[in-house]
Amino acid sequence: MKTCHQKFACILTYVFVFFFTLQTFNYTVMAQTWNQNWDSILKHETPEWFRDAKFGIFIHWGVYSVPAWAPRGMYSEWYPRYMYQSEHPVYDYHRNTWGENFEYEDFIPLWKAENWDPEEWAELFEKAGARYVIPVGEHHDGFPLWDSKLTDWNAAQMGPERDLMAELGEAVRARNMKYGPSYHGLLNYYTPEFSGPHPDYLNDDYIEFMHAKIREIIDLFEPDILWLDGDWMAPLEVFRTRELVAYYYNRAEEWGKEVAINDRWGQVRGIFGDFFTQEYEYDVIDRLIDHKWENTRGMGQSFGYNSNEILEDYLTVTELVQMLVDNVSKNANLLLNVGPKADGTIPDIQKNLLLGLGEWLNTNGEAIYGTRPWFTAEAKTTADDELRFTWKDNTLYVMLMNDIDSDKITIPWIQASQDAEVSLLATGELLNWIQEGNYLTIELPEKLPGAHVYVLSISNDPGYLMKRGR
Ligand code: GLC
Repeated sequence: MKTCHQKFACILTYVFVFFFTLQTFNYTVMAQTWNQNWDSILKHETPEWFRDAKFGIFIHWGVYSVPAWAPRGMYSEWYPRYMYQSEHPVYDYHRNTWGENFEYEDFIPLWKAENWDPEEWAELFEKAGARYVIPVGEHHDGFPLWDSKLTDWNAAQMGPERDLMAELGEAVRARNMKYGPSYHGLLNYYTPEFSGPHPDYLNDDYIEFMHAKIREIIDLFEPDILWLDGDWMAPLEVFRTRELVAYYYNRAEEWGKEVAINDRWGQVRGIFGDFFTQEYEYDVIDRLIDHKWENTRGMGQSFGYNSNEILEDYLTVTELVQMLVDNVSKNANLLLNVGPKADGTIPDIQKNLLLGLGEWLNTNGEAIYGTRPWFTAEAKTTADDELRFTWKDNTLYVMLMNDIDSDKITIPWIQASQDAEVSLLATGELLNWIQEGNYLTIELPEKLPGAHVYVLSISNDPGYLMKRGR
């Protein structure tokens, strides 16, 4: 009786251990498997590296870089759409410049990328301080910039006859920047497989074709970010985006990578995705948003290079630095667009802006990279000077958005701790300060070192009175 009892206990233990192990195994496997249910997909977390990165480069370079023209203030990468719309200024421009019967695809042999050096680009982006690079892999013209097995209509077979996405990826990743070719084909207005200019493209065949191309991007390039666009053309059920997202997340588990996807899944910006984007590019978001987001715009008014633009259409270095600082204080990264010329060179004006930003980041990057928003993104001094804040390792960074013509500033709301050190980030010089009630007054040197935006750092966990008082 006794042995039988023991045997029974033994079996029970084995059964228990067996099921427990199975359960644990199952759990481990389950934790790494994404499916297209909202329950699963919405559990995905924005990677910390993306939160830390703050600054990426977008690149709009394609067949449309050959004509490189739009009325000032418009997007030149929309040329293949506009040239077929008789009421659009590009329609007449095109016919006057290129002739009556010149089709969009006639630009392809003229796109030679003859002066393109991916190493040079990657070096420039690194100098600019970028932490990731998102080249447009395929724009609304349906022309992939990689060696696609799904269509000959691509940059490896025609035009430049190089696998632009592969070459650039190698150069960028060798410099430790993250990489992800984007896909804008949720809007398509020119694909020969689907009947040339502005086809009625939203049908099952196209969606399948589009999925296959996106999966090709995922499989070939293991993108750190999947950046989609053209989303406003249909609901996400039509694009079946969730299938792609689940596929991407699962592949990323296999690669052991933490990845991020934007929110352009189909007529629902600002709801899904590891980071949000603006409803309209060039809109300024003027508040701190809890969910990670990304600001995207060009240095001028267009994404593709627009030869029609004049100097005034471009940002200045100061405006660019201010924009990055403002974005970061509000929980955004900046994805700044570069619009190269057809030959593969980046216009000097864009180069200089990138280098100017890079120079500022070289000195002040500590207040940008790896920071998190503070309780509030912004405040004004008692003299009405604009301030932005970021936060890292118990240090508060206070960014003065303009030149100060006084020997001190007084900031409301900050409560410095008694042993706080206030210093100029650019030189490390310690500054005298005094806390009076809810106001912190800091003495400034006669001339602030550096340019554009001046950064002060306050150590030892300064508090925020408004928040504490609540
Ligand atoms: C818009 C434009 C597109 C551009 C994109 C960048 O969706 O249509 O040309 O690629 O913005 O965010």
